[in-house]
Amino acid sequence: MKAAQKMSQQTDMPIVLVTGAARGIGLATAKRLAADGFHVVMTDADRQTLEASATALSQAGSPSVEAHQLDIRDERACEALLGRFTHIDALINNAGVFEVKKTAELTTDDFRRMFDINVIGMFVLARGAAARMTSSGRIVNIASRAYLGAVDYAHYVSSKAAVVGLTRALALELAPRGILVNAVAPGVIDTPILAAWSDEARAKLATAQPVGRLGRPEDIAAMVSFLASAKTEFITGQTILVDGGRSLGGLAT
Ligand SMILES: NC(=O)c1ccc[n+]([C@@H]2O[C@H](COP(=O)([O-])OP(=O)(O)OC[C@H]3O[C@@H](n4cnc5c(N)ncnc54)[C@H](O)[C@@H]3O)[C@@H](O)[C@H]2O)c1
Repeated sequence: MKAAQKMSQQTDMPIVLVTGAARGIGLATAKRLAADGFHVVMTDADRQTLEASATALSQAGSPSVEAHQLDIRDERACEALLGRFTHIDALINNAGVFEVKKTAELTTDDFRRMFDINVIGMFVLARGAAARMTSSGRIVNIASRAYLGAVDYAHYVSSKAAVVGLTRALALELAPRGILVNAVAPGVIDTPILAAWSDEARAKLATAQPVGRLGRPEDIAAMVSFLASAKTEFITGQTILVDGGRSLGGLAT
C-alpha cells in the first residue's frame, strides 16, 4: 500500500479517483477503469477491505491502482487527498449508504447522516476535483433509480434526488470549462448493500426486474467508464438509468 501511495502524480495515464472502491459497484468500477487505461485512485472508509481489494486488483493484472483510506464525511481529509494531485481527469462519486426505515421511525439524525455521506461528501469532492480538472474533466455521480420514488426509505430517496440536482447544477456551472458532469442511476444491483435482504426477498426482487435478473456491479461500471472517458463530449447533466428496465413501470410478460 505504501509503495502504491507513492504513485500519486507519477503517471502519464489519465487519473481517476473512485470513492467507495473497496467493494460492490465501486470495486467493479475501479477494475473496469483500470482495464480501460486509467490510473485508478481507489478510496474507501473501510481501510482493511480497501487494501485487500486493491492488492487483489494489482495481483489480477491491474497494475495502475493506488489506495487511500478516505471517509468522505471528513472534508479536510478529502481536500488533503485531492491536494496530492496537481490534476485529476475524472472523479467517480460512488460511496453511499442505504437503509430501510419507515418514515414514522426515521429521525432527523438518520436523515442528516444520509445526506452527509450521499450528498455533501459528493459535493466536497466534486468541488475539489473540478478545481484540478482541465477541459476534458469528467465527474460521474452514482445516484439511484430510487430518486424517482420508493417506499420505506425517504431519507435515501431524498438524498439520491439531491444527487440528481447536484449533477444538473454542476453540469451547467462547469460546462463552460469543458468539464462534463453526469449521474448513473442503478436499479437493484447485487452487492453487499443488499445484505439486509433475505435470499427469498432477493429472488423476488429479481423477478420484479423486466430483464428477469438483478443487476451486476459490472453493468454499472461499464456505463460509468463510458461517461468518464473521452468518448463522450456532448452528454452532460444527465442521469442515466441502468436498471434493467425497472423504471419503465411495466413488467415484461
Ligand atoms: N446496490 C444497489 O442496488 C444500488 C442501487 C442504486 C444505487 N446504488 C448506489 O451505488 C453506490 C455503491 O453501492 P454498492 O451497492 O456498491 O454499496 P456497498 O455497500 O457494497 O459499497 C459501498 C462502499 O462505500 C463505502 N462507504 C460507505 N460510507 C462511506 C464513507 N462515509 N466514506 C467513504 N466510503 C464509504 C463502504 O465502505 C463500501 O465499501 C452507492 O452510492 C449506492 O447508493 C446501489
